[in-house]
Amino acid sequence: MSDPGEPWWRTAVLYQIYPRSFADSDADGQGDIGGIIAHLDHLQWLGVDGIWLSPITVSPNADWGYDVADFCAVQPDLGTMAEFDLLVARAGERGIRVLLDLVPNHTSDQHPWFVDSRSSRTSPRRDWYVWADPRADGAPPNNWVSSFGGPAWTLDPATGQYYLHNHLAEQPDLNWWNDEVRTCFDTILAFWLDRGVAGFRIDVCNIIVKDAQLRDNPPATEEDDFEAQLFGQRPVYNGNRPEVHDVLRRWRRVTGRYRPPRVLIGETPVKVDALAAYYGNGDDELHLAFNFPFITAPFQADALRGVVEDTERMLPPGAWPAWTGSNHDMSRFATRWADGDGRRVRAALLMLLCLRGTPVLYQGDEIGLGDWPVAPDDLRDPVGVRYFPAYAGRDAMRTPMPWRRGPGGGFTDPGTRPWLPLGDTAGCNVDDQRSDPGSVLHWARDLLALRRRTPDLQTGAYRSVAAPDGVWAWQRGSRFLVVLNLGDHEAVLDSVEGDIRIGTDRGRDGQSLSGPVSLREWEGLVIETR
Ligand code: GLC
Repeated sequence: MSDPGEPWWRTAVLYQIYPRSFADSDADGQGDIGGIIAHLDHLQWLGVDGIWLSPITVSPNADWGYDVADFCAVQPDLGTMAEFDLLVARAGERGIRVLLDLVPNHTSDQHPWFVDSRSSRTSPRRDWYVWADPRADGAPPNNWVSSFGGPAWTLDPATGQYYLHNHLAEQPDLNWWNDEVRTCFDTILAFWLDRGVAGFRIDVCNIIVKDAQLRDNPPATEEDDFEAQLFGQRPVYNGNRPEVHDVLRRWRRVTGRYRPPRVLIGETPVKVDALAAYYGNGDDELHLAFNFPFITAPFQADALRGVVEDTERMLPPGAWPAWTGSNHDMSRFATRWADGDGRRVRAALLMLLCLRGTPVLYQGDEIGLGDWPVAPDDLRDPVGVRYFPAYAGRDAMRTPMPWRRGPGGGFTDPGTRPWLPLGDTAGCNVDDQRSDPGSVLHWARDLLALRRRTPDLQTGAYRSVAAPDGVWAWQRGSRFLVVLNLGDHEAVLDSVEGDIRIGTDRGRDGQSLSGPVSLREWEGLVIETR
């Protein structure tokens, strides 16, 4: 049972839904809010406590919802506000809370604010975005590059200035030094919180404030990470500014007025030491921050243990980690970490669900769904369209959720063409796994259930335990030991006294241990020690 003294989001398991690819209720080939409502049974049966929806707000879809044209209205092809309210109510009846994606760094270029801002240099909203004069030779104001490649500036010929966009040119960056922008977002947060939203995942929240002087980024060096080297510069001034913390503290005050408590989860693609700063003093900025060093680490004991130990050491007292292996931007863990191997998929789920922190699963993780490469003609992600074949973009991790085998895959009508191709629905789908007690889906559900009834696994402290090469072992709370063999050979642990509560090899569930314990390759155990 959960400790009633803990805020719900600490003991919760969260689940990300990419609405356009989850379930289609009106046979137009795109998932929608009605489709989410229709599949709440699945989520309740699985045992999740909250769902985070990738953007459902109005968007011309240059970046599939991450270019918002109205922050307080529902995108018509995803549903209506009435359906959204119904989703919150129906999910609530099942003990599932609904979180939204907040995209504060930029808007769509079709947003009325930007239309107004670009209309003239004297527009009242000119300063809501980042405008700057060309350099003497007409070049962009500085050297910043967009994280989608190319210059981060586009010239507006009519007014003779450049505007900043850290992503597509269709996604102009807001100017977070402007007080009206800040106040306006307070209202947007309140609009959704008042409707019963349980919190927000905050899109690229580390870059919303830029250097006020728009200084050039310094060149990358060999010491820098892959991305900095790719772009040739370190993102020192176009993001990751200290002043971003003022904004996060402000939002924490806004959410802090609500009961039950609401949660702020940041998309924070930074190193662990910088990640720690996004928790503020542990109680005044983000509640949870996505850990990119973890998600991008290889599936090896030393690498993952290293990130977890760093995180445990560097987070301020009171802060709570978040663990995720997949999302709509990164290759799915069933492919990236597990290479389609069911043993490794089970090991990855065990890891995500047994660390200290809030696990965030991505739709399909529970059935071990892998990436599905999309043919060049079917690409939808603007980044893939721009860079194919050097980079195919993010469509492979956004293909529709396979609910059952056969045409339409239970995602859409058998006769309808889905917006992105279905993968191999016969090889991996919810229905088949649900009728197979040995499936990944049952494994995920049983792990969630064990976690829910085991306070040590929910809130117990993490402590690494010595283990042979390739094995990662850790203690949770006073009684639980988790062991994971992330190597491709058998390993033996010295001496364990206890009972296996769950094992990746379900034949070992309930086994009593006394003495050395052997683990086959990719085997994991959750042990209640004596
Ligand atoms: C975040 C989103 C990604 C989007 C980008 C720009 O990284 O997760 O999907 O393209 O921000 O909004």
